[in-house]
Amino acid sequence: MPRPLAVICLAAGLGKRTKVSTPKVLLPLCGRSLAASALAAAAPLQPQRTVVVLHHQKDAVEAALRAAGQGQNLEFVDQGAPKGTGHAVAAAMATLADFQGDVLVLYGDCPLITTATLERLRALRQDAPCSVLTAFPDSPAGLGRILRDGQGRFVGIREDRDCSPAERAIDEINAGFYCFDAAALRPALAALQPNNAQGEYYLTDAVESFAKRGAEIPTLVVDDVREIQGVNSLADLAVAREIMQERILLEHLANGVLISDPASTWIDHGVVIGAETRILPCTVIGAGCRIGSHCEVGPFAHLRAGTVLEDGAEIGNFVEVKKSRLGKGAKAKHLAYLGDAEVGAKANIGAGTITANYDGVHKNPTQIGERAFIGSGSVLVAPCSVGDRAMTGAGAIVKRGSQVPADEVWVGLPARYLKRRELGKPGKLEGA
Ligand code: UD1
Ligand code: CA
Repeated sequence: MPRPLAVICLAAGLGKRTKVSTPKVLLPLCGRSLAASALAAAAPLQPQRTVVVLHHQKDAVEAALRAAGQGQNLEFVDQGAPKGTGHAVAAAMATLADFQGDVLVLYGDCPLITTATLERLRALRQDAPCSVLTAFPDSPAGLGRILRDGQGRFVGIREDRDCSPAERAIDEINAGFYCFDAAALRPALAALQPNNAQGEYYLTDAVESFAKRGAEIPTLVVDDVREIQGVNSLADLAVAREIMQERILLEHLANGVLISDPASTWIDHGVVIGAETRILPCTVIGAGCRIGSHCEVGPFAHLRAGTVLEDGAEIGNFVEVKKSRLGKGAKAKHLAYLGDAEVGAKANIGAGTITANYDGVHKNPTQIGERAFIGSGSVLVAPCSVGDRAMTGAGAIVKRGSQVPADEVWVGLPARYLKRRELGKPGKLEGA
């Protein structure tokens, strides 16, 4: 029987170094927030408890993480004014008062950790009070350094700002992931003192206290240093995004998705793409899109949340699709916007077609039948429908509420003055 597991994710910090008002842990990384990414790595370990420590903009952070972590049973604890990572873990342990077993601590600003590494870190602890993940990054600047004695045994962690010049030259750093024994952690947290350059209660000092009392602290050097990339600034976020993006693209490539230019392709996490679909350059695909096999997307296409392309559908240059389903073999090859639309199999959406789904207040649906042919430059003012095999002429405006019956051809409606616009009211074309 493995020991019970609790996960603590620290997400209370303000993230001053990012200079933006969004809480740092909610900054987006390929369609998911930083903290949600870290929590997603821990979820497969099936922890009995998962506690998120928050404070700054806690309502926003809690709502976002609850929405992202469906199926994860998240608990939230307000740290109060953040006084350091040790103080944050103490707040979580107050909620985990009766918990015995492994306590895995993650920082909400380190989103690239993998489940496999967390598993190894946990397994490494055995009977030690704590195991620690370390790394040898190209630049250790700003990170806590791992101090070792003459025999290479772990002695402690020194924050960058507290380092002597000699300590600052150490190239092994604290990655910010730990597996603690809950029983050992509690007294170590209670004994923390904020005597350091930042005047904070450092979690790292708790680890050091075990070593001071003679415990051997097992450390794991991360295989791939990119897993421990933290985000303290927007520049760090850009680096992290690139790493996450590469991971996502490699997964699709391994599944037989033909991505012709990974460097210019953005695909969020949680996108499903069938084998032998071609993704052409400069394409952006948002979280949650589902794309069948033998489809073609791009170049310069934008698929947003809620888009479903069935097998063989094609989306071409400068086409944006939002919350729409295209049936098998349907095509929209040039300069179009499809929003809240249902497009039947083998329908052809001509260049410049727009579903006018937004009346200024509501988003309205458009239905386009199987083998329908929408002429170039058509505007379909939603809600409206075009039946199976029906056709619109070039430049046709299908008015709001219209239902073009199957097999008919509809054309026309040039623009003319109608009425003055009233701001804040739906732009309903009554009498048009
Ligand atoms: C921390 C580590 C450092 C390590 C680095 C790895 C400490 C003292 N230092 O430094 O050794 O090399 O991470 O990335 O632990 N947080 C709270 N409450 C607080 C303070 C922080 O919830 O009171 C959260 C933050 O929101 C953040 C995480 O903890 O998500 C880490 O805090 P941060 O201030 O970024 O620590 P670093 O200086 O990066
Ligand atoms: Ca950090």
